[in-house]
Amino acid sequence: MQEEFLSILRTTKQTVFIMSAEKNDIRRAVTVSSVTSLSLDPPMIIVCINKNASIHQILEEGRKFCLNLLRRDQKNLANLCSGQDDGEKRFSLGEWHSHDPVYLESAQSNIFCSIEELIPFSSHSLVIGKVYELNHSGDKDPLIYQDGDYE
Ligand SMILES: Cc1cc2nc3c(=O)[nH]c(=O)nc-3n(C[C@H](O)[C@H](O)[C@H](O)COP(=O)(O)O)c2cc1C
Repeated sequence: MQEEFLSILRTTKQTVFIMSAEKNDIRRAVTVSSVTSLSLDPPMIIVCINKNASIHQILEEGRKFCLNLLRRDQKNLANLCSGQDDGEKRFSLGEWHSHDPVYLESAQSNIFCSIEELIPFSSHSLVIGKVYELNHSGDKDPLIYQDGDYE
């Protein structure tokens, strides 16, 4: 069942973001695709984050995060933020600004959210964010993930 479920999911095209957050001197960035708009009025968003992901603790303790929508040519950033290099090493590529929350200036768009609720469910937490600030480049060429690879 799980295998078939996964093989169906692998046929879908997913838009790729890096979720970033900071608390005091600690910054974390993680590649995510489970991003869905929840409502427009108020502007709310939902993201599913594995409880073992390094950003999870910051989300539990912090109040804000940013969803950085990656451009098609930012595959290297997506790989870095889902790979073995962790912590501050993930900020070694790209133009990151500490703005509480830290954000990627070169992303196609930035969606800044305050955390409204963190709902634990099984292996993940549903992170419900309220959008309070946006940077929108107007470009329409996001990085897409399908069948374990980027387009
Ligand atoms: C395209 C793509 C999408 C991903 N989406 C999610 C996601 O929505 N939620 C999640 O918890 N992990 C997701 N991951 C996995 C995390 O990026 C990966 O486990 C990461 O290493 C976790 O961060 P950590 O190593 O700092 O704990 C995704 C990975 C990739 C490559």
